[in-house]
Amino acid sequence: MPGKIIEIDTVCHTFADGYKGLKNISLSISKGEFIILAGKNGSGKTTFLRHLNGLLLPDSGKIMVNNKNVSNNLVRTRKTIGMVFQDADAQIVGDTVFDEVAFGLENLKFKRAKINKKVSLILEYLNLFHLRERNPSTLSGGEKRKIAIAGILVMDPEVILFDEPFSNLDYQGTIQVLKTIIDLNRSGHTIIIATHDIETMICEATRIIIMEDGVIKKDGKPHDIVKHLESHGVKEPCSSRFGLGLQPWLP
Ligand SMILES: Nc1ncnc2c1ncn2[C@@H]1O[C@H](COP(=O)(O)OP(=O)(O)OP(=O)(O)O)[C@@H](O)[C@H]1O
Ligand SMILES: [Mg+2]
Repeated sequence: MPGKIIEIDTVCHTFADGYKGLKNISLSISKGEFIILAGKNGSGKTTFLRHLNGLLLPDSGKIMVNNKNVSNNLVRTRKTIGMVFQDADAQIVGDTVFDEVAFGLENLKFKRAKINKKVSLILEYLNLFHLRERNPSTLSGGEKRKIAIAGILVMDPEVILFDEPFSNLDYQGTIQVLKTIIDLNRSGHTIIIATHDIETMICEATRIIIMEDGVIKKDGKPHDIVKHLESHGVKEPCSSRFGLGLQPWLP
């Protein structure tokens, strides 16, 4: 039985205007899980993800990552848990793909030789090495999203959070990013994905969590959860709707 990596205990979050974004969330996440976070617009998915790496802090309750309280261990938490944001363009800061991926290591004052080695390895692993001199803003949506993933991966996180990783991607871009995420999970990373696009990866997921109004409504194995999706405003995959069970989306 793999160990727990994240433990969330009765977490609440109230925004400055008084809106309650999370209400009494409790759950735990084990190493190596592949979790889909589902729920309609405004259900609290992004708010939840931002708590996991300390971008937002709970006003009551606590989140433990590897047995350390996130609120008191922000740097340690962000090394363990990386987040790929919905808008990959907004994350771009470098003039070249190489600089873009090196950015986080430079901030941490790694030595130049170490940075070059780590960035090259990650770019090769993600099949991006040939793009290393390109300006990231000129790349396709799928390439940009992979570069955002490379920028997180270079920091060696154990857990990677993805907020709508397929938004604005075409078919090829979606395949590219989905294969990358599956490989990351197979190589031992814990994956949590907030998405409206359940069909694309339901076969890969070990667990689906459905949120509504800042509350967890369902949490379980994909086979057990799939028939509850529509009653919470999330599209049930066509294969399941037509009685064909859960079918892989990748060709
Ligand atoms: N800074 C803020 N101040 C007040 N309310 C906020 C703030 N950020 C988010 N909210 C509200 O919290 C709720 C949850 O927002 P969140 O972004 O977590 O939803 P989501 O499930 O990620 O939605 P989507 O599917 O559209 O990405 C929404 O009602 C939103 O308006
Ligand atoms: Mg969101």
